Amino acid sequence: MSDKTGILLLSHGSRLDDGEEVIKAYKEMYEEEFPDMPVEYGFMEIRKPGIPETIKKLSTENELDRIIVVPVFVAHGLHTKRDIPGLLGIESDFDAESVSGHHHHHHDHDDHDHDHGHDHGHHHHHHHDHDEEPVEFDGEIVLTDPLGIDKRMYEIIKDRVSEHL
Ligand code: NI
Repeated sequence: MSDKTGILLLSHGSRLDDGEEVIKAYKEMYEEEFPDMPVEYGFMEIRKPGIPETIKKLSTENELDRIIVVPVFVAHGLHTKRDIPGLLGIESDFDAESVSGHHHHHHDHDDHDHDHGHDHGHHHHHHHDHDEEPVEFDGEIVLTDPLGIDKRMYEIIKDRVSEHL
């Protein structure tokens, strides 16, 4: 492939530092294995660098035709189906009708699909309300699936249990 590709490893974002330590470590592992591939990490909300600035950094430091965005999330949810495509300015196959109760509850807290204790009260998850700047990139942006169901993840789950047996 002659197209020049860059990678964005995308984490949710947290006020605590733990998430950044993890995503930064994966970024460094990737860089070490593929030193010619531009790779950055960023956050979809709460923490910087956000999506637009990370895309800008990747594309100004490298002449890129394409950026592959990997949401380092376990499963698809409203963030990966709706919010991240919105922030990236790309098409999404998100179907609002598929969310149970979605059309009855337009308040974001009701349709936020995860519960990891961060405060969403200061912002809205609907991308039209988002205060992020728009993404500026002339090339193609590819959003991959999240990590999903994988034996390698299952092994980690077993390890976490074993540590306490
Ligand atoms: Ni969230």
